[in-house]
Amino acid sequence: MYRTHTCGELRISDVNKQVTLSGWVQRVRNLGGMTFIDLRDRYGITQLVLNTETQPDLSRTARELGREFVIQVVGSVAERSSKNSKIPTGDVEIILDKLNILNKSAVPPFTIEDDTDGGDELRMKYRYLDLRRNPVRRNLELRHQMGIVIRNYLNEKGFLDIETPVLIKSTPEGARDFVVPSRVHAGQFYALPQSPQVFKQLLMVAGYDRYFQIVKCFRDEDLRADRQPEFTQIDCEMAFVEQENILNTFEGLTKHMFKTIRGVEIEGDFPRMSYADAMELYGSDKPDIRFGMKFIELTDAVKGKGFKVFDDAEYVGGICAEGCAAYSRKDIDALTDFVKRPQIGAQGLIYVKYNTDGTLKSSVDKFFDEAELKRWAERMGAKEGDMLLILAGVKTKTQNALCELRLEMGNRLGLRDKNVFAPLWVVDFPLLEWDADTKRFYAMHHPFTSPLKADVALLDSDPGKVRANAYDLVINGVELGGGSIRIHDDVLQRRMFEVLGFTDEEAQAQFGFLMNAFRYGAPPHGGIAFGFDRLVSLFAGVDSIRDVIAFPKNNAARDVMIDSPSPIHLNQLEELSIRLDVKNNPQ
Ligand code: AMO
Repeated sequence: MYRTHTCGELRISDVNKQVTLSGWVQRVRNLGGMTFIDLRDRYGITQLVLNTETQPDLSRTARELGREFVIQVVGSVAERSSKNSKIPTGDVEIILDKLNILNKSAVPPFTIEDDTDGGDELRMKYRYLDLRRNPVRRNLELRHQMGIVIRNYLNEKGFLDIETPVLIKSTPEGARDFVVPSRVHAGQFYALPQSPQVFKQLLMVAGYDRYFQIVKCFRDEDLRADRQPEFTQIDCEMAFVEQENILNTFEGLTKHMFKTIRGVEIEGDFPRMSYADAMELYGSDKPDIRFGMKFIELTDAVKGKGFKVFDDAEYVGGICAEGCAAYSRKDIDALTDFVKRPQIGAQGLIYVKYNTDGTLKSSVDKFFDEAELKRWAERMGAKEGDMLLILAGVKTKTQNALCELRLEMGNRLGLRDKNVFAPLWVVDFPLLEWDADTKRFYAMHHPFTSPLKADVALLDSDPGKVRANAYDLVINGVELGGGSIRIHDDVLQRRMFEVLGFTDEEAQAQFGFLMNAFRYGAPPHGGIAFGFDRLVSLFAGVDSIRDVIAFPKNNAARDVMIDSPSPIHLNQLEELSIRLDVKNNPQ
């Protein structure tokens, strides 16, 4: 038997027990004729001790030990003279009788400590060592726990977990597909699912009126801290429901998670905000509503005073930063540099300080007198001691920049506490997005999203105005989930494809199976998918979803541990009837 107990298990009540433990050597210390070994496994750390003088054989073996050696020990549990209250096993130690090296270890390239000396890339290359560290382990344990809670909750609500295929054909989420060549059907390709969207709808047609799956999805898109090329969704679909039923069900799940996992009771219904308001007040379809600082538009109030920046602007708007009138020149310069970064793209930043003595001072004093500035301050709800930060320019771009500035100020003012959770449903998204380059509409969500009943007629007259029966769950400024009520009528679905510029043949070739299925009694249905990685990282309080994925890809979509993607053998390519462009084939 390799072990009778784990390294996190023994307590003072176990004193005098004879035990066997196995684990990894965290460290070895020699102190006044005694050797201490910290033995670690995923449950904890237990101190082992041997007497260098009276136990020469054990001592010899102990001298061979290095970090991360795997050992098995036998000994008796004793009370420690100097206790360590920081760890649960800190009251006891094991007085060794036997020490057996099960396996040696090369010197690890970084320390296996909570605060490691290993850089990101190194930790990813040796992810199996990184996974031994407590912070990473705790995240994976949390992920496991959340998975269990979700499954139990949905099971109790009558949802069936049904697997859907991974080798499919293009799905409609709008990112690029990963494709897999078929050997059997030369020149043909499978696509990996961007989500199980069409399958869950087909399951509704099949009568499985409550479906869920915790499922891998694949999207070939540019990566960010909250995006991975393969990620996990909690994918759900329900039949005979309206938007209200779905929001209630998944608000219930979200509250349940907060309560059971974080011990946080979220009172009342989640607030709802239309997409139009979210864009107007926060410049984002995923506003962080842990704090205020809503945008106030000033366009009509500031024109005609000879200040060209305002006179030429499509939009002038600002935020009121409470208590910031004391900001120094240096602080303001830093904020100006922030908004001028290329990825934010503002031309400059205008400030108005509402000083505590009641005077107003701004960067546009040349054009606007104090009375004028005061009117802005009143309009923006500012009081003495506050500062207005104003941007001007093309509307969407300026609102985007103002959104970034607002978040930056939220950070600076400590208003984005990771232990405060502010959920929000964003609703009434536009159904379609106009793309000026290709001069056509795209589905904002996916082409199966139903228009709001009240807006269906607009599909013919003014498609850009049609609102979708779609919703996103946003928490603390992160889009955690999104879904919609679906079109279940083949005539409307056909019309939708038409508006999206699909010819009949194209629609038939890509989604004919779905429209065909709709001819056989499709029930009204709708659903939602949560980003599981994002949900876990929110609960874990970490900024990147990589920290909650056992084997993530890096920012360049590479797995640096297994070195993937990588070239494949020419024979394999031949079997697949694929010839590579020589320039791109490193072989
Ligand atoms: P959507 O495309 O909004 O909807 O995706 C649902 C949720 O999945 C998460 N997510 C991601 N997480 C990590 N990395 C990514 N690359 C990534 N892309 C998306 C987000 C997002 O809210 N089939 C529809 C759902 C439906 O209509 O029911 C869908 O996939 O948290």
